[in-house]
Amino acid sequence: MSNQISKVIARQVWDSRGRPTVEAEVTLVSGATGRAIAPAGASRGAHEAVDLRDGGTAFGGFGVARALAGVEAEIAPALLGQDATEQVTIDRLLIDLDGTPNKSRLGANALVAVSMANLHAAAASAHVPLWQWLAQGRPVRIPLPEIQIFGGGAHAGRRTDVQDFMVMAPKAGSFRRALEITADIYRAAGQLMEARGPITGVADEGGWWPNFTSNEDALDVLTQAIERAGYRAGEEVFISLDIAANEFCVDGGYSMALDQRILSADEMVERMVAWAGRYPIVSIEDPAGQDEFSTLAKINAQIGHRVQIIGDDVLVTNAERVGRASDAAACNAVLIKVNQAGTVTEAKAALDAGKARGWGTIVSARSGETEDVTISHLSVGWDGGQLKVGSFTRSERMAKWNEVLRIEESLGSNAVYAGCDAFFAPVAANLTKG
Ligand code: PGA
Ligand code: ZN
Repeated sequence: MSNQISKVIARQVWDSRGRPTVEAEVTLVSGATGRAIAPAGASRGAHEAVDLRDGGTAFGGFGVARALAGVEAEIAPALLGQDATEQVTIDRLLIDLDGTPNKSRLGANALVAVSMANLHAAAASAHVPLWQWLAQGRPVRIPLPEIQIFGGGAHAGRRTDVQDFMVMAPKAGSFRRALEITADIYRAAGQLMEARGPITGVADEGGWWPNFTSNEDALDVLTQAIERAGYRAGEEVFISLDIAANEFCVDGGYSMALDQRILSADEMVERMVAWAGRYPIVSIEDPAGQDEFSTLAKINAQIGHRVQIIGDDVLVTNAERVGRASDAAACNAVLIKVNQAGTVTEAKAALDAGKARGWGTIVSARSGETEDVTISHLSVGWDGGQLKVGSFTRSERMAKWNEVLRIEESLGSNAVYAGCDAFFAPVAANLTKG
C-alpha cells in the first residue's frame, strides 16, 4: 500500500524566539513526504499538553534532545507501516504511546510535529493542497483574520497587562482586502507611536512595542490608528483583545500592574463591560483566569450577545472543557491551537465541539512560531472561520497570512470570505444590523 509510512524522522530547528523546537518529517512508500514544526507558547494554560524540554543550562533549558530521542526510539518504530491517510488512527497511536494525560512523557512538541507532518504526507500522497485534503469536498470559507497591532503581556516584558491589541475587518469582503486594511492601520499606529517618543521595536508576535501609560491609553491609540488610516472604527474595523488574564490572575483577583490596581473578579467583569461600551470592541479573549468559569459567565451574560468571548487558556483546545464552558455559558468562541491538544485529531474535536454549539472558532498560532504554515490550511480546510497569527510583521507571521492569500486566489470567484458570519450568531447579527 503506497500510503504506508516508511520513515519518520525528527530534527532540531529554531523558532522565532531563537529557541530550539522539533521538526518532523514523515515519508510514505509512495515517496510522498510531509514536514511540520512544533510552535511554542509563552502564556500557557496549566491544562495544556506540555512540551518535553531538556532543562539544565543549555539553550536556557529549552533543548529538545529528549523529545527528538523519543521520536527516534519510540514514535518512528510505532508508525512504520501505518496508513498515513488514517489520521485518527495515527493520532490515537501517538496518544496511547505517550500514555500520560498531558503528553509529558514523549512531549506535545514531538507529538504535534509528527501528527501534523503525517497530515501533510497524506495530502501530498493525494496530490492536493492540505486545505483541500482536509475539506474532502465540503464547502469551506476563507477565514476572517484577527491581527495584532500592539503586543503586550508576556510577549512584551509586561509593559501592558493586556496581551494582544488587535483589529478585525469582518466587512472587508475578502481576506486580501482585510490584509490591505490592516497594513494601513499598522502603519498609522507606527506613526502615532513615533509621535509619542522613540519607537523601541516590536513585541514577540511583531506588534509595535507597547509604550503606554495605561491599558486604556493603548485602546485610545488603537482607535485613533484605525481612524487615521481612514477607516470607521466600530463600523468597518473593530478592536479585538486577548486579555490573557490568567497571566495576572492571583488568588481570584487581577493584578493590573500598568494601572497599579488589583481588581476583584467582579471589578474585572465591570472593566470588560465598560471597555466594550467605550471602545469599538468586537472580541475579547481570556478576560478571566483559566478556571474562572463563573467570572467568564458573568461577562458573557452581559456582553456576549454583541462581543465574541473567546476561551484560550481556559479551554486549551479541549473538547471536554468546551463542553464544561458551554454548560456554564462562559464563552461563545473557542481558540484552537493544535499544540495545546498535542494532536491534529484532538484539536479538530475541540473545534467541532465549538461548532456544534454555534460558537466562533479561531485557529491560532503561538507566540513562538516558525515558517510552518500548517495552521493556514487548517483554518480553511476545517472551515474554522477565523485565524489568529500575531501581527503584520516578521516572516513567521507573514508566511501564514500570505499562504491564505494564495489559497484565496486559487479559489477565484468561488472564494467565500467568512466575514461577520464567523462569529456566534447574535454577535454576527449585531454587526450586520444597521
Ligand atoms: P502564547 O500566547 O502562544 O504565548 O501562549 C498566545 C495567546 O495567548 O493567544
Ligand atoms: Zn490567548
